[in-house]
Amino acid sequence: MKVILASDHGGKNLRQEVSNLLEELGIEFEDIGCDCEGSVDYPDYGIPAAERVAKGEFDYGIVICGTGIGMSISANKVKGIRCALVHDVFSAKATRQHNNANMLAMGERVIGPGLANEIVKHFLETEFDGGRHENRVNKITQFEEQ
Ligand code: RB5
Repeated sequence: MKVILASDHGGKNLRQEVSNLLEELGIEFEDIGCDCEGSVDYPDYGIPAAERVAKGEFDYGIVICGTGIGMSISANKVKGIRCALVHDVFSAKATRQHNNANMLAMGERVIGPGLANEIVKHFLETEFDGGRHENRVNKITQFEEQ
């Protein structure tokens, strides 16, 4: 499994926590920043991360900003990306099972590192259920291809 990790300044501390977790879990990942002191623009990090997931370079992307909202909106503009904004463990599992989400967005100003790490673990270890959920996800893909 390969994961790409990105944040803006508002998600920098939580990105470091998630990076530590991925290292502990022995999961291969690339951290594309930001390496910023001041403020940066979340699309400059969220869109490149999403493009690399969409190209197949990574299985999953994890993007973090202050709220997670800007990152999720940005990532979801990239064709083939299903980025779920998640702040609870139930949704982390459900979005993999039902939506086959390939990216996870979280907000550093919304949740603490303990919960964020649980969300990441459940997101990465949960499989897509397929079946009727596959039909629904296919409808999104078909719409994107129009
Ligand atoms: C930055 O202040 C903040 O707007 C950003 O991190 C994010 O929350 C945007 O959605």
